[in-house]
Amino acid sequence: MHRTHTCGELRADHEGQLVTLSGWVQRTRDLGGMTFVDLRDRYGLTQLAFNMDSNETLCLQARKLGREFVVKVTGKVLIRESKNAQMSTGDIEIEVTDLEILNASKTPPFTIEDNTDGGDDLRMKYRYLDLRRKPVQQNLMLRHKLSIETRKYLDSVEFIEVETPYLIKSTPEGARDFVVPSRMNPGQFYALPQSPQTFKQLLMVSGYDRYYQIVKCFRDEDLRADRQPEFTQIDCEMAFVEQEDILNTFEGMVRHLFKVVLDTTVPEFPRITYDEAMARYGSDKPDVRFGMEFVDFGAVAQGKGFGVFDSAEAVVGIVAPGCAEYSRKQLDGLTEWVKRPQIGAKGLVYCKVNADGTFKSSVDKFFDAEAQAAWAAHAQAKPGDLIIMLSGDLDRVRKQLNEVRLHMGEALGLRDPKNFRPLWVMDFPLLEWDEATERYHAMHHPFTSPKPEHMDLIDTDPGAVRANAYDMVVNGVEIGGGSIRIHDKAIQARMFDLLGFSPEEAEAQFGFLMNAFEYGAPPHGGLALGFDRLCSLFGGSDSIRDFIAFPKNNSGRDVMIDAPSPIHDEQFTELHLQSTAPRTTES
Ligand code: AMO
Repeated sequence: MHRTHTCGELRADHEGQLVTLSGWVQRTRDLGGMTFVDLRDRYGLTQLAFNMDSNETLCLQARKLGREFVVKVTGKVLIRESKNAQMSTGDIEIEVTDLEILNASKTPPFTIEDNTDGGDDLRMKYRYLDLRRKPVQQNLMLRHKLSIETRKYLDSVEFIEVETPYLIKSTPEGARDFVVPSRMNPGQFYALPQSPQTFKQLLMVSGYDRYYQIVKCFRDEDLRADRQPEFTQIDCEMAFVEQEDILNTFEGMVRHLFKVVLDTTVPEFPRITYDEAMARYGSDKPDVRFGMEFVDFGAVAQGKGFGVFDSAEAVVGIVAPGCAEYSRKQLDGLTEWVKRPQIGAKGLVYCKVNADGTFKSSVDKFFDAEAQAAWAAHAQAKPGDLIIMLSGDLDRVRKQLNEVRLHMGEALGLRDPKNFRPLWVMDFPLLEWDEATERYHAMHHPFTSPKPEHMDLIDTDPGAVRANAYDMVVNGVEIGGGSIRIHDKAIQARMFDLLGFSPEEAEAQFGFLMNAFEYGAPPHGGLALGFDRLCSLFGGSDSIRDFIAFPKNNSGRDVMIDAPSPIHDEQFTELHLQSTAPRTTES
């Protein structure tokens, strides 16, 4: 028998029992007469004690154990002389009478401790060692718990999990596809799904009116902390529902997850429209843990002879509470920060609303105290506050000021990861204009239905058409999104036309879906939550990588297995591909 108990299990009431434990050597401490070893497994740590007086051979053997050796020990549970209240097994130790080395270990390239000395690259190369660390284990346990509770919840409200294929035809979700060559069909390729969107809609046509799937999706796009090339969605679809039913179902699910997984009660999700979110926060995924909402300064700042403002489409600002004390150096720093290419502003205007009732701005030459008092009144800035203004093109200014707002929120400690503030952002535009290709793109995806009352605008003013499309946003992160779908063939065909598909192209790519719509397609809609993002939100981290067992790095590489990698000449031949890249592998 390898073990009678785990390394996290033994307590004072096991005193006197003969037990067997197996695990990894966390560390050994040699105190002359005694040697102590901390033995670790996924459940915890147990202290092993070896006594020189009672068993010299065993004690000498224990001293030679290296970090991460795998050992099996048998011994008696004793109450410790000096207890460790920090450890769940801290009241006891094992007086070892039998020690077997199951496997030796090379010295690990970094310490397997909560705070490791290993850098990111090294930990990823030896991810199997990194996964032994408690914080990483806890993240994966959290992920497991979230997936189990999601399944339990959805099962309890009649959703069924259906698997959809991974080798499919391209689904247009806006990113590039990963493609897989077909050996049996020369010159043809499968695409890995960016999401199971069309399949879940077909399941609605088939009558499975509540579908979900915790499913891998694949997108060949630029990577960031919250984006991986393969990631997981909680993908859901419902038939015979209105938008309201979908919002209530999944708000209910997420509030339930907060309660059972984190024991946190989150209030009902507020709802704001996309237009409102852009005007108030300059973002379609606003972080509403703090205020600092946008103030339109046009009326009180333009037409007063300051050319920069006068020539701008918009002058928008925020009020940073308590920041009138900012030093010249801090303000210069902020100005430099907004000028960085990532933000791209030409500069900023500030106005200190001093505690003594005076004003001091970067544009005192153009605006006297009375004018600045009018700004403060307009923005409801209080003595001690700092007004920060940007001007220029409305869309660009909003984007830049969103960054400034988040930056100031961070600087002022207003973005506590344990304070969860979810909301729904609703009524997204159906289409967005793409300058580069000079045509409309679907803002969500081409299967999203226009709002019925906007149907007439499709021909006259497509850009103004709004959709019953919604995003779930928590703490400035888009956790999920979805929409009510088109279920009428003629409207779907019109949509493809609007997106620049010829009828032949639409038929070739999506004929299967449009044909299905001719066989009794029910009204339907759904959403998908980014499961990795949900895990990192619950775990209080910005990076989804910490919640994925074997993630890719920012160049899309798995540095542990060294993928992607070249393939053999024979594979090229078999797959009817011509190699253009230099071959670098013989193996
Ligand atoms: P969407 O493209 O908005 O919608 O994706 C849904 C959610 O998936 C997460 N997500 C990602 N997470 C990690 N890495 C990525 N590269 C990545 N891309 C997206 C986000 C996002 O909100 N088929 C539709 C859903 C629907 O309409 O039902 C879809 O995929 O959290």
